[in-house]
Amino acid sequence: SKKHKVTVVGSGNWGSTISKIVAENAKLHSNLFEEEVQMWVYEEEVTIPSTSKNYDAAAGHDEPQKLTSIINNYHENVKYLPGVTLPSNLVANPSLVDAVRDASILIFNLPHQFIGKACDQMRGNILPYARGISCIKGVNVSDDGVSLFSEWIGDGLDIYVGALSGANIASEIAAEKWSETTIAYDPPLTDSRAPTPRSDSPQPAQPTVTVTDVPAVVHRDARGRASKTKLTGVPAEYPPLDHDSFRTLFHRPYFHVQMVSDVAGVSLGGALKNIVALAAGFVDGRGWGDNAKAAIMRIGLMEMVRFGKEFFGETVQSATFTETSAGVADLITSCSGGRNFRCARKAVEKGISVDEVERQELNGQKLQGTTTAYEVNSFLKARGLERDYPLFTAVNDILRGKKQVDDIPELVATLDD
Ligand code: NAD
Ligand code: 13P
Repeated sequence: SKKHKVTVVGSGNWGSTISKIVAENAKLHSNLFEEEVQMWVYEEEVTIPSTSKNYDAAAGHDEPQKLTSIINNYHENVKYLPGVTLPSNLVANPSLVDAVRDASILIFNLPHQFIGKACDQMRGNILPYARGISCIKGVNVSDDGVSLFSEWIGDGLDIYVGALSGANIASEIAAEKWSETTIAYDPPLTDSRAPTPRSDSPQPAQPTVTVTDVPAVVHRDARGRASKTKLTGVPAEYPPLDHDSFRTLFHRPYFHVQMVSDVAGVSLGGALKNIVALAAGFVDGRGWGDNAKAAIMRIGLMEMVRFGKEFFGETVQSATFTETSAGVADLITSCSGGRNFRCARKAVEKGISVDEVERQELNGQKLQGTTTAYEVNSFLKARGLERDYPLFTAVNDILRGKKQVDDIPELVATLDD
């Protein structure tokens, strides 16, 4: 019988951390997964910093070298996850096409601005029965409207893709400090399968769901519509890909996984909280203290729930926002120590733009909140709905220099009028 080959598409701060987790589990569960895990690395020339424990001036480390060579030789991503030892069964691969070849599990984990090009390269080069998990925090906005990255990737590659999101600041997890996460995986059973029922509580995992040996089925998207994607079943010689197997792949003693079925709620929580985290950074940078930040989180959570209900109402559950790690917990951690929060705070303190702080401080890491704020705004504006989402709108207007942080209290007050 075959084992699942796992490939992580992406190798940034979170991409490298998730790669560490799944490589540890692939080694532990060699009955299910091939031990070697591939990680696609967008190749660049990097100099090993003298602060790295792997730095050796005598070995020529003051010269730039390929990031993939550094990772494979020293098991450290010195640029995006410095100071963390990666498992030796994790292999950095600069060729995306080669890394995804024969992988039956694809984990998408790169800044959302780069996923389109990566998918273009993957199309036609992956197993037709591969299954995916998207760890990307963002939404895809086009002329057609807004879609989840899990579904957009899945439709583009003709595979089923679920979503992982939670209160997960990468550096803490890489240091093996305990956290929780939420994985939404709601694969198809049959053509006629009814949409996930709605209730006030997060839907429990469906441990018996398996897509093994399903020949070709139509599945329903996060709006309850029959998806255009024709799925190919996972051949029976593989272990089944169900909630249990995905929990086994991601769960660690320091990374606790809750499996749910609400893909839209999990994806939207991770995307929209980045807009709120910018607002939290703005008011913190202004010196307004914890009360102001709590107000931002309260209003932000309301707008997140409203957005989910308004545009993904067929499947989304409010409780995913209020009860899971992907919802309120991610909102809190992101408004406390996330990069969007920290960069927005510094931008206000220094009187410069968030983009400028990102360039100066993040050493190539990418903020997701600014692009998400612009994209969500263009989507809302096109529908004349800006006033229904005053905090999202205020963040967009502040980023564009049309409004000031001092305007926030008045701008968001309209919500309760
Ligand atoms: P990151 O912010 O560290 O971004 C850097 C990555 O982008 C590097 O791997 C770099 O190689 C890659 N890159 C740069 N230019 C590129 C190009 N032209 N084409 C392709 N790749 C290019 O990335 P990250 O932190 O791994 O974030 C990935 C996703 O995970 C994001 O959606 C983010 O919101 C989410 N996330 C991040 C964290 C975190 O704490 N970092 C936690 C949870 C979720
Ligand atoms: P930032 O991208 O703002 O650092 O958020 C990280 C995150 O998603 C924490 O869950």
